[in-house]
Amino acid sequence: LQTDTEAALAAATDPRALDAVRVATLGKSGALTALLKALGTFPPEERKARGAAVNQLKAVLEAAIEARRIELDAAALEARLLAERMDVTLPARPFPPAGPEAGAIHPIARTIEELTAIFGAMGFGVAEGPDIEADWYNFGALNIPDHHPARQDHDTFYVPAGADGRRPVLRTHTSPVQIRTMINQAPPIRVIVPGRTYRADHDATHSPMFHQVEGLVIDKGITLGHLKGCLIDFLRAFFDIRDLPVRFRSSYFPFTEPSMEVDIGWNRKTGELGKGGDWLEILGSGMVHPKVLANCGIDPREWQGFAFGMGIERITMLKHGIPDLRPFYESDVRWLKHYGTSP
Ligand code: PHE
Repeated sequence: LQTDTEAALAAATDPRALDAVRVATLGKSGALTALLKALGTFPPEERKARGAAVNQLKAVLEAAIEARRIELDAAALEARLLAERMDVTLPARPFPPAGPEAGAIHPIARTIEELTAIFGAMGFGVAEGPDIEADWYNFGALNIPDHHPARQDHDTFYVPAGADGRRPVLRTHTSPVQIRTMINQAPPIRVIVPGRTYRADHDATHSPMFHQVEGLVIDKGITLGHLKGCLIDFLRAFFDIRDLPVRFRSSYFPFTEPSMEVDIGWNRKTGELGKGGDWLEILGSGMVHPKVLANCGIDPREWQGFAFGMGIERITMLKHGIPDLRPFYESDVRWLKHYGTSP
């Protein structure tokens, strides 16, 4: 039995085969177990010597099985180390990869990086908020009550009502993050808020999902002059045109008073920015409405501020002469290669 078992162990090259040998020897109906069981059939004088011999054999076989197990484990580890071997002295792969596999930064991401850098230099931080927004943040707190006509302009996507019976919305602008920021952060405040926004509108120049960037400044003694200076500096830096004409036009938003739309100079026929005598509307802005400040627990007699919002696709298309909105969302590698930038 010992020779047979040792031969079987040598032939077992994986844990399953090893276990089969163990069962065939020491298991319930194993060969050695049979010897132990048979002891009772011998006369008492023989039983003692035979019992000692069988038990010794059992110890020998157990040890042999255990030894083989250790051998197999070591061999398995060795094989794995070999298979997973790596040369830590190899030079690193170039990153980002060069050649046809090289990716590119999407124009939207690039514009957000540029906005963050330009406003960052003016002392603005970056804030974010959720895409699915409570009605109150998207509308109510911004001085757009339930039946206000401004709601119709927003082509709102509604989400099924929650436990409170109110229907959340996909935010129609980044302005709800003004509210979240003013509630969560004591003034002075200077933030921009880049992010996705949604409106049920789809044609060559509108996408149901698009991006906006919001700006918010709250401090003591802030005036329209600060708003104008800040936006003129920003627009000239972003479009990289030192004397870009900028025009402020009186307008209306429920959450700012006074409100102004901002136009930049361009040539309507050629699309060239900075000259040509035509005006192009580029963003909405205004002094934060006292009611909005009060809705956020900020005393409008003590703090004032301004806010602005603009479409990221729009300023990106203008800056880079991108004629069509739709490819922004189509992941066409040729388009990305053409309009994207290497990191
Ligand atoms: N939220 C406005 C829009 O989507 C833009 C805006 C932001 C206007 C901040 C004024 C102040 O049209």
